[in-house]
Amino acid sequence: MVCLGNICRSPMADGLLQKKVKTLPFEVIVDSAGTASHHVGEAPDSRMRATAAKYGFPIDHLKARQFIQTDFDLFDFIYVMDKNNYDSVVRLARNKADVDKVDYILNMTNPKSNTEVPDPYYGGEQGFINVFDMLNEATDKIVEKIKKI
Ligand code: 4NP
Repeated sequence: MVCLGNICRSPMADGLLQKKVKTLPFEVIVDSAGTASHHVGEAPDSRMRATAAKYGFPIDHLKARQFIQTDFDLFDFIYVMDKNNYDSVVRLARNKADVDKVDYILNMTNPKSNTEVPDPYYGGEQGFINVFDMLNEATDKIVEKIKKI
């Protein structure tokens, strides 16, 4: 799960999917990262943490890190939140196989639309709830997809 700061959108997606894959009969490694380095080492934004806790998916344990090229070796699927993240991640790709791992997370719910998860950082509480709702639906679809592999 990749966003810009790794303190709002991608940790929420990470927390949702981490909890959901616990019900599966095999191990799934879930992680998140930001394309920028400004917030490395920080816990998720307090507003995202509050929303996450309210809906039963606490993310207080997560710490921001930056996306690095070797993440392409560690993960089968790399979900980005917006076009800016997509471009930043694809810039680090070494080959077509790397590029093919990257997709917009909302393509899980709106196939091929490249819809963006809006950055809630500069907005109010409703923005965080909207992000939660979008990512909750998208991560349900990811679980369905993983189950079929
Ligand atoms: P995120 O949100 O990419 O969802 O973690 C942001 C967090 C911080 C900033 C921008 C977006 N920032 O400019 O510091």
